[in-house]
Amino acid sequence: MKVGGQHFRTIWLNPENERLVQLIDQRFLPHRFVIEEVSTVAQMATAIREMHVRGAGLIGASAGYGMYLATIEAAGSGSFDEHVVNAAAQLKATRPTAVNLTWAIEWQLTSIAKGKTAQHKIDLALRTARRIAAEDEEHCRMIGQHGLKLIEQIARTRDGKPVNVLTHCNAGWLAFVDYGSALAPVYAAHDRALPVHVWVDETRPRSQGSKLTAWELGQHGVPHTIIADSAGGHLMQRGAVDLVIVGSDRTTCTGDVANKIGTYLKALAAQDNEVPFYVALPSSSFDWTIRDGSEIPIEERGAEELKRADGWRDGQMLEVSVAPEDSPAANYGFDVTPRRLVTGLITERGVCKADEKSILELFPEHAS
Ligand code: MRU
Repeated sequence: MKVGGQHFRTIWLNPENERLVQLIDQRFLPHRFVIEEVSTVAQMATAIREMHVRGAGLIGASAGYGMYLATIEAAGSGSFDEHVVNAAAQLKATRPTAVNLTWAIEWQLTSIAKGKTAQHKIDLALRTARRIAAEDEEHCRMIGQHGLKLIEQIARTRDGKPVNVLTHCNAGWLAFVDYGSALAPVYAAHDRALPVHVWVDETRPRSQGSKLTAWELGQHGVPHTIIADSAGGHLMQRGAVDLVIVGSDRTTCTGDVANKIGTYLKALAAQDNEVPFYVALPSSSFDWTIRDGSEIPIEERGAEELKRADGWRDGQMLEVSVAPEDSPAANYGFDVTPRRLVTGLITERGVCKADEKSILELFPEHAS
């Protein structure tokens, strides 16, 4: 997607030195556009854990490049295999909910194991890191094309008035390598000159909606409005939301969806107001081993994310306290929306119902 008219992906290799990974450091958006250079597994683990990079697809792609860096490090260490296994464990421990992390690391471990020499293993890891990133990009592009048909259908009933989409958190291109999941259909519609407007949930405590989703929609010229996290139900009651599209960090093979905390409440409000509630995800975000959403590990992050807020003033990032210092705070990162509240899943192979039979019809290779 474009930043200031120039095309960017969220992660890439330094064209002058392919042993360096470059990524957009999202902690500084929307105020500053910062590119970070990462050359070690430890740096990549920090970038994922501290959310310089975040979002299911980008976490997977970052882990893929992290494993490539692991092979470079391993070649200079006493024991190649041990170094790679430790690096995999270090990266896997960074964030528990997005299944793309494990998926990418497992893919890398299988590829690296096929190498005959250290250099061969490095080459295979590089090729796999590139494939993980390229697949993420292509799958998101396809999600855009399938989701576009849903927006087109609604647009035909709107008499030229904008289709109003509500989204939660950031499942745009910043959460993937490019295009995004939930926002890919929105970009596809906008690029086809269909009038579309996005209600952007602020998404406390880290404000991925107001900081990231609003920024990337603005860069692409898509009309949008930031709303408080609790405003969605009110807007649905007033008929101001035509459909909800959210992303997913992990979806069970039966259709239960883990996504950013607060998603479940949007799904409840959508059902009560008969607003279609879609989840957009590449197949890398399915967990084929889990049948019930209650088994999905839910990340709990530090209380400081709730008790502090940061912002920008006079060219500087400032952090302020927004809660009593002595009050405890519990910071759950994700919740699970049960499949019965999901109208459909938008995947790279098409749209299906959120149930096991429909999911496996699209992805028959996962039927046991
Ligand atoms: O904690 P984050 O920012 O990594 O959370 C991920 C998300 O942005 C959302 O949950 C998103 O909707 C799914 S990832 C595309």
